[in-house]
Amino acid sequence: MTPPAAPALLGQFWGLVNGLTGYFAVLAADELGVFGALAEGGPAGVDELAARCGAVPSRLRAVLGGNAAAGTLECRAGVFSLAPLAAAHLVAGQPGYLGPLLRHSPGPFENWPELASTVRGAAPPRDVGRDAGAHAGEAGHAGEPPDAGEPPDAGEPPDDFLAALVRATFPVQLAVARAVVGDLCDDGRLGEGAPVRVLDLGAGAAPWSVAVLERLPAARALVNDLPAVLPLARDELAARGLAARAAWREGSYFDVPLPDGDCDLVVLGHVCRAEGDDGAAALVARAAAAVAPGGSLVVTEYLLDDDLAGPAQAQLLGTTMAASTQRGGTFTHAEVRRWLAAAGLELERDDVPVPPTAVVVARRP
Ligand SMILES: C[S@@+](CC[C@H](N)C(=O)[O-])C[C@H]1O[C@@H](n2cnc3c(N)ncnc32)[C@H](O)[C@@H]1O
Repeated sequence: MTPPAAPALLGQFWGLVNGLTGYFAVLAADELGVFGALAEGGPAGVDELAARCGAVPSRLRAVLGGNAAAGTLECRAGVFSLAPLAAAHLVAGQPGYLGPLLRHSPGPFENWPELASTVRGAAPPRDVGRDAGAHAGEAGHAGEPPDAGEPPDAGEPPDDFLAALVRATFPVQLAVARAVVGDLCDDGRLGEGAPVRVLDLGAGAAPWSVAVLERLPAARALVNDLPAVLPLARDELAARGLAARAAWREGSYFDVPLPDGDCDLVVLGHVCRAEGDDGAAALVARAAAAVAPGGSLVVTEYLLDDDLAGPAQAQLLGTTMAASTQRGGTFTHAEVRRWLAAAGLELERDDVPVPPTAVVVARRP
């Protein structure tokens, strides 16, 4: 048998295979409570940690090793402790905890083995776009009159993929929104005392509305999402004492009536990539029509460089969209800028203020 000619490439090959293994090792450690047990009880050996987590020591040892290899745990002389990544983001109950994002960001796991079929045109086993229940051109929730004042129904939060995802991404997107809203205020584009009007389309748990309302005491937000998700926005704004300055517009952003050219800030936060090229362009045009003269439209996405060469976050999130939606994918900065220009807006900003989320802001002259 011919020996491998390029051992370095074999190392890269195993890196590919082990990406999956490392991910599931970290997920298992999160579910077993390993990170919380180490944060509370301090560094520990396998037997003690197994006792703290209620796991079989010999089985846990394997998973702890997987975490050490993945960079979430450190191991010295058989004693495991939290690596900085786990200490910052994997200890449940602490402010930076991203366990839900870890679980939901890849989309439904059952879609991944079918990716090649999906790329040939088959529907993914579980289309998370379809979970949304409405797309451009579909009847969806069209025709429902807008509900400007009444909050959406309270009760149990919906247990579907999108609801779980927007809960999971909220802390990360709130950091992006706070940074950009802060910049717009510092530039004098959003007046601190002015009655700023915000339209938050596909708001999720409404990180953008939160960022604007908490920063600008006279601002008001019109918050849109699908019926399964809008209660999460209401809960988030209510928990922060901001709901009194919010109104709700339940239904598809392709169909619900929108304000006509009188919003100071319109936000499309991580919604375009689910809609495909034509849907995203149409959504940008619809959102742009709501922007007042002098107002801005913000598009946030994980955007590709114009030569498609990177960044990896946009390339891989694009792959995730291909696995779990029928029309979703990824766009370049240039494509987004083209849609904004076609909608009559002038580019103000196109950068990555809080990596890896790109922010493109355009203004209505
Ligand atoms: C990835 S989340 C982004 C949430 C939020 N804008 C943010 O930046 O964190 C996408 C959101 O779009 C919503 N969405 C999907 N299709 C929609 C539609 N046709 N009309 C309104 N909202 C929709 C989803 O329910 C979800 O809340």
